[in-house]
Amino acid sequence: MYRTHNCNQLKADDEKSCVTLSGWAHRVRDHGGLIFIDIRDRYGYTQLVSDPDNLKETHKAMEQIKSEYVIKITGTVRKRPDGMVNKSIDTGEVEVVVKELEILNEADVLPFEVDQDKDLSEEIRLEHRYLDLRRDRMKNNVIMRHKIIKYIRDHMDKREFLEIETPILIKGTPEGSREYLVPSRLHPGKFYVLPQAPQQLKQMLMVAGMDKYFQIARCFRDEDQRGDRQPEFTQLDIEMSFVEEEDVLKVNEELAVELIKKLKPAKKVRDVPFIKMSWQEAMDKYGSDKPDLRFKMEITDITDLVKDSGFQVFADAVKAGNLVRALKVDGGAEFSRKDIDGFTEIAKEFGAKGLVHISIGDEIKSPISKFVKEKELKTIIDKCGAKKGDMIFIVADEFKVVCETLSHIRVECGKRFNLMDKDNLVFVWITHFPLFEFNKEDGKLVSSHHPFTHPMEEDIDLLDEEPEKVRAKAYDLVLNGVEIAGGSIRIHDPKLQSKIFDILGISKEDAGLRFGHLLKAFTFGAPPHGGIAWGLDRFIMLMQDEPNIREVIPFPKDQKGRDLMVHAPSELPDEQIAEANIRLLKF
Ligand code: AMO
Ligand code: AMP
Repeated sequence: MYRTHNCNQLKADDEKSCVTLSGWAHRVRDHGGLIFIDIRDRYGYTQLVSDPDNLKETHKAMEQIKSEYVIKITGTVRKRPDGMVNKSIDTGEVEVVVKELEILNEADVLPFEVDQDKDLSEEIRLEHRYLDLRRDRMKNNVIMRHKIIKYIRDHMDKREFLEIETPILIKGTPEGSREYLVPSRLHPGKFYVLPQAPQQLKQMLMVAGMDKYFQIARCFRDEDQRGDRQPEFTQLDIEMSFVEEEDVLKVNEELAVELIKKLKPAKKVRDVPFIKMSWQEAMDKYGSDKPDLRFKMEITDITDLVKDSGFQVFADAVKAGNLVRALKVDGGAEFSRKDIDGFTEIAKEFGAKGLVHISIGDEIKSPISKFVKEKELKTIIDKCGAKKGDMIFIVADEFKVVCETLSHIRVECGKRFNLMDKDNLVFVWITHFPLFEFNKEDGKLVSSHHPFTHPMEEDIDLLDEEPEKVRAKAYDLVLNGVEIAGGSIRIHDPKLQSKIFDILGISKEDAGLRFGHLLKAFTFGAPPHGGIAWGLDRFIMLMQDEPNIREVIPFPKDQKGRDLMVHAPSELPDEQIAEANIRLLKF
């Protein structure tokens, strides 16, 4: 038998019992004869002790133990003397006097210490992920991930949702990013595509009458990596029949709040219903469709105010049809010259030609004060609702540049003033998205969400003449500035669906080839339906206060899409490639 207890179980009550424990030698300390070893397993730590008066053989064996050896011990539990109790571990009242010891496996010196919370290079961690996962922080992330997924499954099951698996080898789904391809051996020249999301399948399940579906679904997207993106990631995917937008939102709000109250009671979360904001309002007030609402700092449009400005940059911008917008930063008057230069750098990074500031300290200071009358500055300050001690940042440019620039400066200011408390969870629904976006590269409209999204009823008349003005029955759930979920009410009428394909410039033939199965399914009685998908990794990242999703994925890819542990992607033998009917271009 390897163990009578795990390494986190023994208490004062166990005094004098004989126990067997197995685990890793976490920390080894030789106090001139007296040897202490903390033995570790998934559950925790227990202190082992041996002194030279102990059994001679055993003590000698104890001296051989090095860090991370796998050992099995048998010994007697004893209470630690007063003052020696270690309150930071669950077994801190006791220690085990070792009587027998067996080395189950030795360990080479590890590339990094697992018993310390030092900053390590991510490359080394990912290469030895199995060691990285021995560290408490990572272990806790894995355990919490399990608990969250288990909670979701139970919660959805109680509400009559069925978890239904959908295929991984499938056909392209238009979710907007590049797809991973899998060559077919049996059908030379043909490919499977890995799903970007189970979107079409879950809609088919609604046609099949499954009514309420969910899945913890793996999704694949061949896109450039960022902190909150991975080439394969996990969604909580949901679809429901006979629902309106409100019904979908409600299910998700309840799940989020109940889960957090149960698993993360230390976090503050506002009760349902969550704040709701249209896409337009979010862009106008915060410059972003994923605003962080833990702090205020709003944007004000001052285009009209400055159309005749003495500062030529503003007047010219208005003439050119651009916008002039101002961000008020409470307390920002204390920013130094260097801070302001830093913000100007951010502005340039996002394509702005410059950044004007108005600092409202004991006096009003601005680089444009030499061009404009004091009255103009005062009107801007009043319109922004700024007061003494505040700062105003102004950008003149096209809508996208103004929004991106001011929203990034806003977040940076939030960080500077410590307004982003990780334990304060502020959810917001962003609704009324535009149905289409204009793609400058090919001059075509593309779906903002995906082409199965239902237009808002009151905007359907605009589809022919002014499609870019049509808003969608689409919604995103944003938590502390991170988009954690997105979904929509779907089109279930094949005629409307064909019309949307027309507007997107997808020919009947092409639509037939790509989505014929869905269009056909819709002709056999499709219920009104809608759904949503959560980026589960992003949600868990926020629950665990981690800075990126790699920390909550047991075996993630690095920022270049590589698995550094198993070395994927990798080259393959020529025969294997030929068998897949592939010929490689030599570079
Ligand atoms: P969407 O593409 O918005 O919608 O994806 C849903 C959520 O998944 C997360 N997400 C990602 N997480 C990690 N790495 C990625 N590369 C990545 N891409 C997306 C985001 C996002 O909000 N089928 C639709 C949903 C629906 O309409 O029901 C879909 O996939 O948190
Ligand atoms: P310049 O005349 O280029 O020296 O600019 C004077 C000030 O206006 C500087 O503080 C610039 O950062 C700022 N500025 C220039 N172009 C813009 C713009 N499009 N929006 C906001 N500020 C600008």
